[in-house]
Amino acid sequence: MGEIESSKEESKKYSTKDIIVCLKDISVVYGNMAALYDINLDVHTGDFIGICGPNGSGKTTLMKTIIGTLKPYTGQIALFGEDIKDNISKDIRHKFGYVPQTTEFDRNFPALVRDVAEMGRYAKVGVVKQLTKEDKQKAMEALRLVDMEYAAERPFGHLSGGQQQRVLIAQALAAEAEVLLLDEFTSALDFRMSEEVMELLDYLSYSHKITVVTVGHNLELLRAYCNRIICINKIIAFDGEPNDPDLDEAINKIFH
Ligand SMILES: Nc1ncnc2c1ncn2[C@@H]1O[C@H](COP(=O)(O)OP(=O)(O)O)[C@@H](O)[C@H]1O
Ligand SMILES: [Mg+2]
Repeated sequence: MGEIESSKEESKKYSTKDIIVCLKDISVVYGNMAALYDINLDVHTGDFIGICGPNGSGKTTLMKTIIGTLKPYTGQIALFGEDIKDNISKDIRHKFGYVPQTTEFDRNFPALVRDVAEMGRYAKVGVVKQLTKEDKQKAMEALRLVDMEYAAERPFGHLSGGQQQRVLIAQALAAEAEVLLLDEFTSALDFRMSEEVMELLDYLSYSHKITVVTVGHNLELLRAYCNRIICINKIIAFDGEPNDPDLDEAINKIFH
């Protein structure tokens, strides 16, 4: 089969209902500086995307635009087929789990691992509600899924960076997130720990159909786990498979 046919086959794998994030002609501006422009991007169910680019290239801006905390200057966004004009509905917002960096917590963070996972349930049921037995069970199940149930009664602040990252992923899963967005979690972890978290994301992606979008500075790590790499430098410089030779060319261009 020629290349053109195989790329046609590739595009047939997706139907529009699988497009969970659709960014069309997006530009994002801070003051009078464009941080992103001409961004056209579809995220499909089951994608495991690694986003890379130099410092200041707009990676965090892109994540914030996807989850709706930043309004684009131009362009359209659709999430799970719903056009986002002003506000994202609660239902759609909860499908996205933003996983913060572990450096945002200090050692004295006054919560147990169980509490951190349960915060995900509060996000789902509303902070004014009491958690039911079932909610608490769901939080525990999420901890089990990331292999942290054994540490449920330990103080969150006493865990290693990698363990904290797992618990934060559990928090998003407890909120029943279908898409996980992680911004540079590897910069707070050593290589081995980063690899373990990537293994977990890989497992969640294939066994629980969780879609993953992660920003990372270690291209080799992204290449080893992601099925799609996006390089940005205000624009999208590359969007394709990790073994595509054009990726190397794009990397050379934007990092030098
Ligand atoms: N709140 C802000 N106000 C003004 N400029 C910002 C703001 N946030 C980011 N920027 C600028 O936008 C550009 C992209 O930032 P960012 O998305 O954080 O990049 P990255 O995550 O790739 O390092 C940078 O030049 C940064 O200085
Ligand atoms: Mg950033």
